[in-house]
Amino acid sequence: MNRPWTPDSWRQKPVRQIPSYADPARLEAVLTDLAALPPLVTSWEIETLRSLLAQAGRGEAFLLQGGDCSESFADCTSNDIADKLKILLQMSLVLIQGATKPVIRVGRFAGQYAKPRSADTETRGDVTLPSYRGDMVNTSEFTPESRRPDPDRMLRAYERSALTLNFIRSLVEGGFADLHHPEYWDLEFVRAAQSPKYRERVAALERSLRFMETIAGPRVGGVLSRVDFYSSHEGLNLYYEAAQTRRPPRREGWYNLSTHLPWIGDRTRALDGAHVEYFRGIENPIGVKVGPSIEPDELVALTEALNPTNELGRLTLIHRFGSERISQGLPPLLEAIQKAGRAVVWCCDPMHGNTEATSSGFKTRSFDRILEELKGAIDTHRASGTILGGVHFELTGDNVTECVGGAGGLSEEALQECYRSQVDPRLNGDQAIEIALLLADCLA
Ligand code: PEP
Ligand code: CO
Repeated sequence: MNRPWTPDSWRQKPVRQIPSYADPARLEAVLTDLAALPPLVTSWEIETLRSLLAQAGRGEAFLLQGGDCSESFADCTSNDIADKLKILLQMSLVLIQGATKPVIRVGRFAGQYAKPRSADTETRGDVTLPSYRGDMVNTSEFTPESRRPDPDRMLRAYERSALTLNFIRSLVEGGFADLHHPEYWDLEFVRAAQSPKYRERVAALERSLRFMETIAGPRVGGVLSRVDFYSSHEGLNLYYEAAQTRRPPRREGWYNLSTHLPWIGDRTRALDGAHVEYFRGIENPIGVKVGPSIEPDELVALTEALNPTNELGRLTLIHRFGSERISQGLPPLLEAIQKAGRAVVWCCDPMHGNTEATSSGFKTRSFDRILEELKGAIDTHRASGTILGGVHFELTGDNVTECVGGAGGLSEEALQECYRSQVDPRLNGDQAIEIALLLADCLA
């Protein structure tokens, strides 16, 4: 893997899931614009996250990654953004209590605008059009104009990401996440957040806070009044990613400055493909989704290509098997990685292997299967002597009806009430807090 690399060397490789733009001149003009705009994140934030992920790999911290399957331009609003932070913050507090370790909060936000699709086209009646590939590429309306990949949407995605991050940074600086004031980050409608169990955990956390401050003084309080969030998205549209890949002053190497933690999806992780080529050259911590179709040898080869120096924190493997396959599928991968001595952070995505369609045509996921996969992951890692370093969810602070089950007993019939996701179904606020409480019990 000592072949020369540039941010654009992926263009020489077989590429999957990237739109073909009809106007190459416009595409290049957009990429030139994107390359000149300021970075969205900094190399030092990226380096900090990489070392935090190394802690997760050693079992000293726990990664909580979550957010929309696909962000939409329309949802770039103050409420939507604040609710995303609140739900991640609430879940993280529950997990800190359960796992008794620091939690690293990483949002699927500020760039999660491009989606892989199982089919390139969609047919309705006798009309066939390109598939919707996320707001960075086209729009979901079923018309030829809406579905045409438009390079200018990359600029719109960059701007929306910047607006999102700007607001997140202001909220964090402004003390919205100050742990002394849990009333600020209550989600009003989340019934689970009113549950005695949740209240109990938050109260316990407040007591520990006061205890620590009494012992160590206000310095501790200062640390706790600031809570960090990192950004992540699937690095799918390599035009967008490469245009924001820079060599920051006084640093060695190239950084993708559009996000802290980009990941490669399960459909684009081919060893000889364009995505692996691009990702091998950047300094960011990166993720790779791995599903049932990967072979153990192939996974080891991927870790060698993507993390040749075998540094812990660089590479997070996000397994997503489905509740029925995890206990069979995961052990051979854990064993192969252990045997090869590869340093990785293991993370469980209990969402993407558990997607099903209802008879009325809704894409949904069952709360019970999501929980079952999490439990399967915890048990399997314990049995193998490996460390589950984190979890990856599709969720929203919103009161949507997309996944069935949970304490509220959301039924298949209720899915139509508020189904808003344009791609995959997300846990709603109630379900997200509930899964965090149950997960916290399992980790304790
Ligand atoms: C996703 O995370 O939305 C996704 C498409 O996942 P995967 O690559 O695991 O299928
Ligand atoms: Co998804």
